[in-house]
Parts: sequence; C-alpha cells; structure tokens
Amino acid sequence: MTTNRTLYVIACAAPPARRLSVPIKAAQRAGWDVCLILTPSAHRWLTEDAEGEIEALEQLTGHPVRHQYKLPSQPDVLPPPDAMLVAPLTNNTLAKWATAVSDTLALGLITEGIALVPIVALPHFNDAQAAHPAVQRHVAFLREAGVTVLLGEGGFTPHKPKHGNLDAYPWQAAIDALPA
Ligand SMILES: Cc1cc2nc3c(=O)[nH]c(=O)nc-3n(C[C@H](O)[C@H](O)[C@H](O)COP(=O)(O)O)c2cc1C
Repeated sequence: MTTNRTLYVIACAAPPARRLSVPIKAAQRAGWDVCLILTPSAHRWLTEDAEGEIEALEQLTGHPVRHQYKLPSQPDVLPPPDAMLVAPLTNNTLAKWATAVSDTLALGLITEGIALVPIVALPHFNDAQAAHPAVQRHVAFLREAGVTVLLGEGGFTPHKPKHGNLDAYPWQAAIDALPA
C-alpha cells in the first residue's frame, strides 16, 4: 500500500521492544509509512542482546532506525511525522516526558511532539512501578496535554513483577487509537 502518512514508533527499554515488527506491520497495514526511533537503552537491547534485529527492522520500515540526536551539521534522515506511537513506554521515559526532559532523541521528539502531532502512548511496567505516587500524576498530566495514554481499561494493565505476558501486550489497541 502506498502512503504519504508517516508514523514514528518510539520504543523504550521494556520487553515488548523485542517484538517491534508486530506494531510496525500492523501500522503499515493501516496505511502508515513507519519510522522507528529507540531510546539509547532500547537500542542497546536490540544490538547487544539480539543479532541482526536493527538491520531487520530497517529493512521492514525502509528507514534507518534512529536512537541519538544528529549533529547540527547532519541532515534529517527521516520524513516529518504525522503521528507518533510511544510503545513500549517505560516508567523512566514517562517521568522524563511528563517533566519535559529531552536528553535523548526519543524524548526530544515526544516532548516537542505534544504541540505538533497526535501521540498515542502504550505503557509497559509492573504494578509495583505503577504504584509510585508520581506515576498517576504523570499520566494525568500527559492526558491533559492531549496525549492518548492507554493505561488501564482498553489499554495496558500493569502486571505483577516478573509476571509480564508479552502475548497480551495490546499493540492493536494502540494502532486502533491512531488517527484514522
Ligand atoms: C529485563 C528488564 C526488563 C525491564 N522491564 C521494564 C518494564 O517493563 N517497564 C519499565 O518501565 N522498565 C523496565 N525496565 C527498566 C528500564 O529498562 C530502565 O528504566 C531503562 O533505564 C529505561 O530507559 P528508557 O526509558 O530510556 O528506555 C526493565 C529492565 C530490564 C533489565
């Protein structure tokens, strides 16, 4: 399918990052040209803990997989986004995003992105992490800013520590929440 709508999938270092071909293929089926951006930690997982995964994802998307800011003299290598999907969203990136920290390319894109394009975020963290009092505040803050945060009913429900179920991660709910 040819498309001129570009989706940035922005993935953090949580276990669903090992299955990024799933949302990429689903978004492509929904008509998006998909570009993948990883946090530095997620990039480390996909390079040091998995051989050939970055190359396979570059082949799948047809774009370079980015994980760090370019130098000022370097050109942009990705088309501008029409929407963003932040998944999996870690607790760490959630906290930094909600407080406008932008010390990684992923955070730079999503902090600015709030003012520019629709953003859907699909968290992945356990219920002990979710119990930290700042987490609900960060989620509420991002929702008030217009981000669709799929936490709770219809989205991701935090699991008990060490009991995550990758097969149950609701990628399709996130794809369905993207603008039509
Ligand atoms: C095996 C493993 C699993 C992890 N799972 C999660 C997770 O599901 N959710 C989460 O928020 N952090 C998880 N973490 C911690 C994050 O990887 C860590 O906070 C990291 O700094 C996140 O960086 P990022 O937000 O820049 O990707 C996990 C770490 C490891 C080693």
